[in-house]
Amino acid sequence: MAVVYVTREIVGGALERLRAAHDVTVWEKAEPPQPAELRAAVADAEGLLCMLADRVDQELLDAAPRLRAVANYAVGNDNIDLAAATARGIAVGVTPDVLTDATADLAFALLLAAARNLPEAIAAVTAGEWSTWEPKRWLGVDVHGATLGIVGFGRIGRAVARRAEGFDMTVLATRETPLEELLAQSDFVTLHCPLTAETRHLIDASALSLMKPTAILVNTARGPIVDPLALGAALRAGTIGGAALDVTDPEPMPPDDPLHGSPNLIVVPHIGSATHTARARMTELAVNNLLAALAGLPMPNPVR
Ligand code: DGY
Repeated sequence: MAVVYVTREIVGGALERLRAAHDVTVWEKAEPPQPAELRAAVADAEGLLCMLADRVDQELLDAAPRLRAVANYAVGNDNIDLAAATARGIAVGVTPDVLTDATADLAFALLLAAARNLPEAIAAVTAGEWSTWEPKRWLGVDVHGATLGIVGFGRIGRAVARRAEGFDMTVLATRETPLEELLAQSDFVTLHCPLTAETRHLIDASALSLMKPTAILVNTARGPIVDPLALGAALRAGTIGGAALDVTDPEPMPPDDPLHGSPNLIVVPHIGSATHTARARMTELAVNNLLAALAGLPMPNPVR
């Protein structure tokens, strides 16, 4: 029986399988453990089930000398220092596939909400400002027939493309269209690449300047792929039509974040995988990864 630390309460029955096999402790507070609290918590741990907001860096690994397995509760792994983990022989796993459709659904929901001004329309009705049918108010842009640029054509990017087919959209993807061309031709640009040294600030001032003045940027990937200062400037100057973000940099957005108050901006709190089914299946995959690695077997879903 190994000591396993789980950094947040998570949904789904699979955690019981982990509890049956190992000595499991779960961080129970609503706010995540601070780095020092996490370092103290993993002092004896051989297994760690962590969230994308937990930094698994050299310092944390130094504090966890017995650690053998890290199961990230996410498909992304940019919160983990993979080189440091690998150098210590620590297996690292993720939760692919099970959140693909939930995240693609949210990307499309954000795209539609931004295209049709849903937040403003809902706010007007909620404020009692809907006094008549308005021929000139709340006009949005067409989604059907528009051109959708998909940056990153992995599992989630392809799932978004399938949804776009149903809307008769023309799809451009970075797999075959150079980024500059894609940005210039798209009515909507949606980001689905991982965060790496190459993709950090991929969408910077110069990339934003290539987009149509009516184009809408959707980000359900990772916040730092977009330069937030450049995005705020583009929204304020009206050089792009809008942005809809599930992810920001930093995350969560502090109250004084410069993006707050930008026009035509929708932000939701990193809920791409937040469906009952996706989260329960993420628990299953993370638990399977830990059970395998702690038994000395390969993880079914290692970081690749
Ligand atoms: C992931 O899995 O990487 C998502 O961003 C969180 O669900």
